[in-house]
Amino acid sequence: MIIPINASEKYDVIVERGAKNKIADYLKELGLKGKVAVVSDSHVAPLYSEEICDLLVYGGFEPAEFIFEAGEESKNLTVYSEILSFLADEEFTRTDTVLALGGGVTGDMAGFAAATFMRGVHFVNVPTTLLAAIDSSVGGKTAVDLPQGKNLVGAFYQPDLVLIDPDFFTSLPYEEIRNGLGEGVKYAVLEGGRIFELLSEGLTRENLEEFICLSVDAKRRIVEADEKESGARKFLNLGHTLAHAVEKESDYSVPHGVAVAYGVAEMARLAYQKGELKKEDFDAIAALLEKCDLSLALHPVKDLIVHFAADKKRAGDKLTLVTIKGIGNCVLTEIPLEEAARYFEVE
Ligand SMILES: NC(=O)c1ccc[n+]([C@@H]2O[C@H](COP(=O)([O-])OP(=O)(O)OC[C@H]3O[C@@H](n4cnc5c(N)ncnc54)[C@H](O)[C@@H]3O)[C@@H](O)[C@H]2O)c1
Repeated sequence: MIIPINASEKYDVIVERGAKNKIADYLKELGLKGKVAVVSDSHVAPLYSEEICDLLVYGGFEPAEFIFEAGEESKNLTVYSEILSFLADEEFTRTDTVLALGGGVTGDMAGFAAATFMRGVHFVNVPTTLLAAIDSSVGGKTAVDLPQGKNLVGAFYQPDLVLIDPDFFTSLPYEEIRNGLGEGVKYAVLEGGRIFELLSEGLTRENLEEFICLSVDAKRRIVEADEKESGARKFLNLGHTLAHAVEKESDYSVPHGVAVAYGVAEMARLAYQKGELKKEDFDAIAALLEKCDLSLALHPVKDLIVHFAADKKRAGDKLTLVTIKGIGNCVLTEIPLEEAARYFEVE
């Protein structure tokens, strides 16, 4: 399946089992040629990098591998600058390509290197985690972290192509599947309908591609309406104010997707308690979280309020929350920061 994205730059997202085997053809169809920097981490490279490089060589490209230590800790200015130096040492020019082969960390950092090396070279994103496939590979956000916080340096930069091959997910540890499902829960509650149904039934080899396509399409509609996050894109922050607070409170030991699922669960609980969400919808969200093995009690909300002030989604002294009125019916709600404790009914 091909999902065309009409952002400031148009590009396709290809979702296809076995697509990686045709990677060179896909790149050639776009008119790409010459050098390709295959950027991946120390977990993904031994599994897939050699195979991808071989396929690129057969297709007439000149691949060069850049491998960094796996983990969010590597998504920093030092590794980013090592990628830039690597591109310069390998004499990359503006007609060459950076290919991210990995999860969201690789995609965000390689994408930022592609956006900034020589003011922008071609960028192809090949997500190998479920989270990156359904969330981070679409939308053009690229970034690295600073010691002061996540994603503080970055750029909006659209890829030339996103190639999602569900075969990559066969090597994913269970924890990473669960982490991806956390972002999936967000789309299920935002959209309702078939995505909600699929996650409630449980993902299988047979329905995985459909789930990925529906999630990518949901993100496509939102980012096409609001590429630079001034309106509709804020809906993608469902559960994220609480998620970022949980990540901080746990010193980032709780993975992002799991934290998002917790955030969605708490927003649903709050909406139900306030009488804004029907019991039937609240129960369906709780059942879906359980099906995804994501019904967790992580931290009481009262311990998290302190972190809200650092939320990047804050504008001035106001927080924009995505509140749940029903499955497939969320709204943006602005609250003054100092009223957060009262709003979350913890005082
Ligand atoms: N740009 C965006 O819009 C956006 C959206 C959401 C999240 N993000 C970012 O994405 C990052 C999280 O992404 P992630 O969860 O994919 O993290 P990740 O890239 O660190 O991958 C998670 C783990 O899975 C391993 N892995 C990846 N693919 C594998 C495979 N096929 N088989 C075995 N192991 C594999 C990695 O080595 C890593 O250990 C965060 O930095 C977050 O800020 C960006």
